Amino acid sequence: MFWSSRWSPDLPRRVPYIYLDNAATSLPKPYGVAEAVAKAMRRAGNPGRSGHALSLRSARDLFVARERLAELFGCVDSSRFVFAENATAALNQAIKGVLRPGDHVVTTSVEHNSVMRPLRRMEEAGVRVTVVPAAEDGVTEARDMIAAFRKATRLVVMVHASNVSGALQPVDAVVAAARRRGIFTLIDAAQTAGSLPIDLSALPVDLLAASGHKGLLGPQGTGFLFVREGVPIVPLIEGGTGSRSESDHQPEFFPDALESGTRNSVCAAGLAVSLAWILRKGVATIRRGEVALTDLLLKGLSRIAGVKVYGPADSARRGSAVSFRVEGMDPAEVGMRLEKRSGVLVRAGLHCSPNGHRALGTFPEGTVRVSPGPFTTRREIATFLSALRTIRDPAAG
Ligand SMILES: Cc1ncc(COP(=O)(O)O)c(C=O)c1O
Repeated sequence: MFWSSRWSPDLPRRVPYIYLDNAATSLPKPYGVAEAVAKAMRRAGNPGRSGHALSLRSARDLFVARERLAELFGCVDSSRFVFAENATAALNQAIKGVLRPGDHVVTTSVEHNSVMRPLRRMEEAGVRVTVVPAAEDGVTEARDMIAAFRKATRLVVMVHASNVSGALQPVDAVVAAARRRGIFTLIDAAQTAGSLPIDLSALPVDLLAASGHKGLLGPQGTGFLFVREGVPIVPLIEGGTGSRSESDHQPEFFPDALESGTRNSVCAAGLAVSLAWILRKGVATIRRGEVALTDLLLKGLSRIAGVKVYGPADSARRGSAVSFRVEGMDPAEVGMRLEKRSGVLVRAGLHCSPNGHRALGTFPEGTVRVSPGPFTTRREIATFLSALRTIRDPAAG
């Protein structure tokens, strides 16, 4: 019951936790991420402001991370990747930067609050929102999304994989249909970036937002918004970019158009290292590993009496977050007992997605969510399952 020190030698050799909360933030990070952050911190000039050596080095840290994002997502022009402090900031920029009063938006009933709350705010500004209900397994049908398109529809916002049920949504079909109708699309890839292949040269999505600290295995304080060329978007924040300083108007070229104020070059240095690790390993390989662990989890959970698992039964149709409930027990109680008894760290509750839980019928108590990551071992999954069996049936422990 400890993390393998192979990956993160900076961690104490024995850490008495089994970390199964990678959907919230990934842990551990690949070797070198923490070191790169510490190193950058010691020599950080202001990226893109001054012209001296340390400023240029920090600007390079951002540039390298941006180039690796572009490589990972199959995009030639890295300037279309705008750094944000997390997926929430990126989603807010996309939603509030594209929509205008009178516009109509189509979204799903399994979105995270980082989509629903900005959309509800935009409703107050005269935007109309259609929420398309998902089925019981958390999957939204593409035909229902497409049927909700109207003349005034300007944007479709869709999560790639639900952070509650893990259910993958039919983004390919919806994006293709929206494109044919001239409707912009925004995909929330917070749960899939880095763990499911996404190729922006094949998927004609207009905007894609993700965190840097989840599947991309980077430090907290990182995230990005991809904006395809030609998509009209107004910056939420304007100010110093270090470019066109002679003008009191925001530059229109990317990434500066959407990057005002000092960027987080220190954490970008760490993100560049985690992205290099992912590029070396390959997202397809990471995905295979996570599917195998998800299979193990689904099989193991199905064998424990009184445990109900939510989301698609087939691991090929889901990300690696698995939600479940134990009959007669509050999810928060299960989460607490897993930690106290066995050092297993999971997330219980509503996961910032009340609508996702309404769709599954698990509102308001929520579920217990287990989410393995690329460094999770089969043994850790086995320990979690045995801890849960003991909670369910203390005589078996
Ligand atoms: C589907 C989804 N969207 C958005 C977010 C927000 O991500 P962040 O915490 O990086 O802002 C999360 C985080 O849990 C998520 O799961």
